[in-house]
Amino acid sequence: MLKKTLAGIAAGALLLGMAACGGSDDDGGGGGSDDGLIVGFAQVGAESAWRVANSESVKASAEADERIGELKFVDAQQEQEKQIEAIRNFITQKVDVIVLAPVVETGWTDVLTEAENAGIPVILADRGIEEADEDLYVTRIGSDFIEEGRKAGTWTTEEFADNDTTRILQLEGTVGSAPANDRKTGFFEVLDSEGFSYELVDSQSGDFTAEGGKAVMETFISTHGLEDIDLLYAHNDEMGLGAIQAIEEAGYTPGVDIEIIIVDGSKAGFEAGAEGKVNYIVECNPVFGDQLMDLVVQVANGDEVEKFTAVEESAYGEGEFEAELPNRKF
Ligand code: AHR
Repeated sequence: MLKKTLAGIAAGALLLGMAACGGSDDDGGGGGSDDGLIVGFAQVGAESAWRVANSESVKASAEADERIGELKFVDAQQEQEKQIEAIRNFITQKVDVIVLAPVVETGWTDVLTEAENAGIPVILADRGIEEADEDLYVTRIGSDFIEEGRKAGTWTTEEFADNDTTRILQLEGTVGSAPANDRKTGFFEVLDSEGFSYELVDSQSGDFTAEGGKAVMETFISTHGLEDIDLLYAHNDEMGLGAIQAIEEAGYTPGVDIEIIIVDGSKAGFEAGAEGKVNYIVECNPVFGDQLMDLVVQVANGDEVEKFTAVEESAYGEGEFEAELPNRKF
């Protein structure tokens, strides 16, 4: 729990303004108080270095921000039910704003309607939810996951341009999650629109964890071998790093016997790239706590905000990994 006394004339004036906009302790939130806004954050879990960095960024920004009185942080351990329970608790506690990083895209209608009925605005951080429910949240900040998939697809069509048919294994993220769905969509959209000849030999979920990635890769290897496989597309670093372990244990050379794309851009991912074990890294940026706090205040204030704010991201190929390593934040 993070609790601070509001200091500073500017912040005080802002919150008085918010209180004047109709918020009070009795009306179910949306207004703030002299002690700053109370924010409930239902986080996905701690499944990856990306996620840990994201939680740290949000907590540090809330702690440093005089406009935020308290951040109620819940780690849902990758379980939607725990996130739904957390949101219901936030509603009971009459927080001012709810921030949700939804584990999966579907199944949010009931609980987000409850938040709406309680007058508590919801911001999505990181992952999105299905379009049918888009009226139930005010705004989302995070990555353009389809664009991330497109970057991976574009690199693939260039890297394997001389192949007759490129044989691909895919390690998918959590089933039903926005990044798993969208990274797949963007990737194959490019391959198909470029008329690229490929075979998706196998595709399974490793749940965005290193253990999951390793276990699925072991199955891939025992089922298909690696002799005729060109590429592994892993939806995040952890699964890619787990897969690298499985590939090495089976006596193959990652990055050479099979080329590897990972998504996130952690230090460990870049180290693997510098060692020649990873061939392409699509960045996914978790450090958006400051921007999120600005949105929290704007939303509590009733200001107009964009429906989606994309964070800045890049991509890196061989020859760039070592130079980029010192810049990695997680
Ligand atoms: O939603 C973002 C994804 O979630 C990151 O790519 C992954 O590492 C995390 O688990």
